[in-house]
Amino acid sequence: MPSVPVSDLPFTPEIERATAPLYEKVSKIVSKLEWPGYAPIIHEINRLKKEKNAVILAHNYQSAQIFHTVADVVGDSLALARDAAKVDADIIIMCGVHFMAETAKLLNPDKKVIIPDLKAGCSLADSITAADVRLLREKYPGVPVVTYVNTSAEVKAETDICCTSGNAVKIVESLGVPEVLFLPDQYLAQYVATQTKTKIITWHGSCEVHERFTAEDIKFFRKNNPTAVVLAHPECPPDVLAEADYVGSTAGMQNYVETKKPGKVILITECAMSDNLRAANPGTEFTQPCNLCPHMQRITLPKILASLQNEGPEVHIDPAIAERARASVDRMLAVK
Ligand code: 13P
Ligand code: SF4
Repeated sequence: MPSVPVSDLPFTPEIERATAPLYEKVSKIVSKLEWPGYAPIIHEINRLKKEKNAVILAHNYQSAQIFHTVADVVGDSLALARDAAKVDADIIIMCGVHFMAETAKLLNPDKKVIIPDLKAGCSLADSITAADVRLLREKYPGVPVVTYVNTSAEVKAETDICCTSGNAVKIVESLGVPEVLFLPDQYLAQYVATQTKTKIITWHGSCEVHERFTAEDIKFFRKNNPTAVVLAHPECPPDVLAEADYVGSTAGMQNYVETKKPGKVILITECAMSDNLRAANPGTEFTQPCNLCPHMQRITLPKILASLQNEGPEVHIDPAIAERARASVDRMLAVK
């Protein structure tokens, strides 16, 4: 859990009253002692959002203090991309990582799209370049290129169609071809290959957070929690996924918890998501092996406030690249 931010803003009785309903939402995660450090910043962010007609989009891996108190739209990468396409605001603040902010910018070229920390990257996005994709196309002429949204706009511009972990199988099958290049996540690619007859050719990228889980971890947690269900993200290695009861995107795992209401869950994904689910699902007990994404955790309440005050840092994409990259995102969003 991130440390309590230091704020010059006072925790007045008025702010305490105004933020009381928000505290209710995070009271299982944030103690009463910590709240005076967060509440004035949260209050000011929500005031400035209205004043500047800004909207905050937050990924499921954002800390509970952001996710449950200042975000207007929350979700997995697919939901954030879909909702970014519908935003009716002058400013979009993306509380997530850089490729998510780029996707929002691709879909809203005329809006100001801001990420509170430009250094919030992603090991998958860093694993492949546009030149790599061009070389792969030469090596596999005529084979369509499907890329995970966890890539830069330059890579998306070389792509036939994007996908997320929530729609990867559907996107691959929508092409109706015998084989595809599926880039850059080797583990998501291997998972997709188990779900389709399409031949999957992949790359050697991986998520630095999910690749750290091992099958031994899961066996150990199960031994100590024999009645718990194991939910895992498809960015995990195959031997980890083989131990899971359910494999899905962050939205898929959330939906599992909300609809099946399991008593105990072992959540094999980024650690902050367990806090977000625990805050909203008091009937479920979570075991959360704490692998945090260092990039997601760069986004903090003080940085969100500063980005609203300064209206930056903004995300910019070269228009020539943006046009081609947008086409690959639009093709994904058109698949029903
Ligand atoms: P989701 O699309 O499942 O939210 O995953 C995004 C991500 O970065 C997982 O590490
Ligand atoms: Fe990228 Fe992994 Fe972080 Fe997701 S969890 S943003 S895939 S590094």
